[in-house]
Amino acid sequence: MDVKLTINNTPITATPGQTILEVARQNGITIPTLCYHKDLSPVGSCRLCVVEVEKWRGQSAACTTPISEGMVVHTESPAIIQSRRLVLELLLQNYYDAGYAMGDRPQDNEFIHWVEHYRVTAPRQAQPRFAVNSDPNPVVWVDFNKCILCTRCVRACAEVQGRFVWGVAERGHQAQIVAGAGVPMLEARCESCGACVAYCPTGALDNRMSVGLGAADRKVLTTCTYCGVGCQLDLNVKDDVPGGRVFRVTSNPNAPVNGMHLCVKGRYGYDFIHHPDRVLRPRVRRYLLQGLPRPEHDRGEWVEVDWDTALGIAAEKLRQTREQHGPDSIGVLTSAKCLNEENYLMNKFARQVIGTNSIDHCARL
Ligand code: SF4
Ligand code: SF4
Ligand code: FES
Repeated sequence: MDVKLTINNTPITATPGQTILEVARQNGITIPTLCYHKDLSPVGSCRLCVVEVEKWRGQSAACTTPISEGMVVHTESPAIIQSRRLVLELLLQNYYDAGYAMGDRPQDNEFIHWVEHYRVTAPRQAQPRFAVNSDPNPVVWVDFNKCILCTRCVRACAEVQGRFVWGVAERGHQAQIVAGAGVPMLEARCESCGACVAYCPTGALDNRMSVGLGAADRKVLTTCTYCGVGCQLDLNVKDDVPGGRVFRVTSNPNAPVNGMHLCVKGRYGYDFIHHPDRVLRPRVRRYLLQGLPRPEHDRGEWVEVDWDTALGIAAEKLRQTREQHGPDSIGVLTSAKCLNEENYLMNKFARQVIGTNSIDHCARL
């Protein structure tokens, strides 16, 4: 049976079992969050999402409080705003970002977004407590001076990636995020997937290859080229060169197959895009263009040609091989990077055009 409640004087009908935060978001009401992420189990630790429920004592964390019949909720009362400002002020006292202290605005930083939204300033300048770049991980940049102990990295690594690398050591003011028992990430079984980076709301964990490079001029939603799963991701592009330059890959939370999850190849294996050795147009050996027999040793230089020329030469070579040595002298290897339809056509090509059953598929990479 539906639950009827009121949020900010608006009557709402919701589903039993939902939290105040879920119902608010479904109805376009913004409640700020830091430790909460919809993909992760809620812990209700940061208290930024507090709301008032009439006739209830104190303030309640919207991310962990289930709705109930007749509930009357206020999300932006003066007392709530004061509580949120206090939470942010306390966190800001330990948030040290040299760039931010100098006036730079960090990009995609949820924490700073809420600090600025509620116009919070730190009563005193935070001091660095940890070494910047404190872990030698090849793709994850670690700067715990920006850590607010929300534990999203801990839960992302455990619940999304299943690796259990991060944990919280010590208690109270001494509490800090550590890999394993205080060892480098790779020694704690990290597989460099970057999930903890994707879920970190402060930039304490960042992408090493693009740290400090700022915001993208545009993001291009695309499908990963590596395997057949079809994960979607956002290419972050700078338009400072003709055609643009991909300088970072980020998760697209609306990706239907993978959500925020990406593997190390999808998230960090993008340097091939602008590599000078990348083949961008078809090439053939010069002796083939000249119609000469294959040289015994040095097969000569590559020459860029149009697709018709390249395909014409390939077709002629296949035809000659089939005629001289029979259809089973030819094997076809297709790819997980192809669409199903393309692999279907390759199957037809192998069996019906060439006449061989020697066709296989690299479903693995
Ligand atoms: S990079 Fe992936 S495996 Fe490594 S700590 Fe982060 S979430 Fe865990
Ligand atoms: S490193 Fe980032 S995600 Fe992890 S606890 Fe600190 S702020 Fe949260
Ligand atoms: S977002 Fe609800 S307690 Fe942190």
